[in-house]
Amino acid sequence: VEQGPVGVGLLGCGTVGGALVSLLAAEAEVIAARTGVRLELVRVAVRDPAKTRPGVPAGLVAADAEAVVTDPAVKVVVELIGGLEPARSLVRKALEAGKPVVTANKELLAESGSELLEVAAEAGLDLLYEAAVAGAIPLIRPLRESLAGERIRRVMGIVNGTTNYILTRMSEDGVGYEEAVAEAQALGYAERDPTADVEGHDAAAKMAILASLAFGRDVVSRDVYREGIAGLAGADVAFARRLGYEVKLLGVAEQVTADVNEEEATAPIAVRVHPALVLRAHPLASVRGSFNAVFIEGDAIGELMLYGRGAGGPPTASAVLGDLVDAAHNLQRGGGGRSVTPGRARIRPMDELRSPYYISLDVVDRPGVLAAVAGVFGDHGVSIRSMEQLGLGDEARLVFITHEATERDVQATLSALRRLWAVERIGSLLRVAGDTTR
Ligand code: NAP
Ligand code: HSE
Repeated sequence: VEQGPVGVGLLGCGTVGGALVSLLAAEAEVIAARTGVRLELVRVAVRDPAKTRPGVPAGLVAADAEAVVTDPAVKVVVELIGGLEPARSLVRKALEAGKPVVTANKELLAESGSELLEVAAEAGLDLLYEAAVAGAIPLIRPLRESLAGERIRRVMGIVNGTTNYILTRMSEDGVGYEEAVAEAQALGYAERDPTADVEGHDAAAKMAILASLAFGRDVVSRDVYREGIAGLAGADVAFARRLGYEVKLLGVAEQVTADVNEEEATAPIAVRVHPALVLRAHPLASVRGSFNAVFIEGDAIGELMLYGRGAGGPPTASAVLGDLVDAAHNLQRGGGGRSVTPGRARIRPMDELRSPYYISLDVVDRPGVLAAVAGVFGDHGVSIRSMEQLGLGDEARLVFITHEATERDVQATLSALRRLWAVERIGSLLRVAGDTTR
């Protein structure tokens, strides 16, 4: 049975907010007919109300974000400003005023999620954030609800559309790094400050959110080991391709149990974001452009993969709209709010990671060099799986793939190689993922 309209207050009307306004205008009738929830946009706050915003009713737009939150006509608040402040204060204020909130703000969730979710839970209100991770892909709800009974072991995926777009353009079309970044910005994929994407901060925030949901412990951004793609050399991307791999910015969250029966609540969690070599045969290697994909591994489900558009206005706005319908529906029924995660996660240090590695080095081209370099690997217990040499005039580039080794041993190997007479320069250290032949 359809009830009266639910007033929506929108904070921020940029790439995602603008797309949400268009989607609402186009779909409100269909949503009302399908779900009984009629959504009505009643107020919009932006930084600069003088800006032209096609499709956004000018009479609704103003600069005062607090006035949107406190307006009695606003029953549900959508936060699409981004960043920590004023978003955090506004979300808190909305919840304290008894209004459910929908947000796409992963930075805020990864920093203050537990605090805000607690405020929401105490008030019996929804704080929904499906759009915060991997744009259009339904991921938060499946993890929180559909997989609530699953013992999840690992969540691994490509969760940043901007960097995946950049890597695809560099790898497939030979486009330069700066040009690819500018394209991603123009297409609305990048954060306001694109260094959040290329340095891996955006993906780290998303992996913290996914880890918290998957393992039922609070993980925050600073728990995530992070490397971005800004320092990645095109030569390594090309060389990896020759060896049968694609380079992807990968997020991995895993619960590390000594044995399968170890108490889940006390088992450490490892979360990391870094460029990685992914075997071309692995499904993640074929995730191109702004698409994202997330692999979930669990005891009963085995493997499950979710794939879709990870960035951009309309795909992200679709996820926001889904949450908005849910929040409005719950509000009308007098429901909403969820229990919070019970306490902080124990984090495994990065140097305990076990992985195969890709290492490139520039060396002098003289007899005995290969033996000296291989000796350093051996001294640190790092076993070489394959090696290729490319001539570079008086120098040579050596590219190694190792068998599985610990991060600690590999870092110690690199430190020793830096001091070795034969080594001119350490190129890249990249982890190899999804290679079952290791
Ligand atoms: P955006 O294009 O930069 O839009 C931000 C909006 O917030 C703009 O309308 C801006 O006003 C407004 N704003 C800034 N400061 C404000 C303030 N103090 N008070 C009121 N309004 C203010 O950002 P976006 O790409 O839409 O991203 C919004 C959120 O969605 C972020 O949390 C982002 O991480 C997340 N997200 C984005 C994507 C994507 O693909 N873009 C995907 C998933 C999630 P003006 O228009 O006047 O500048
Ligand atoms: N900047 C983000 C990305 C937006 O490129 O994935 C989606 O969260």
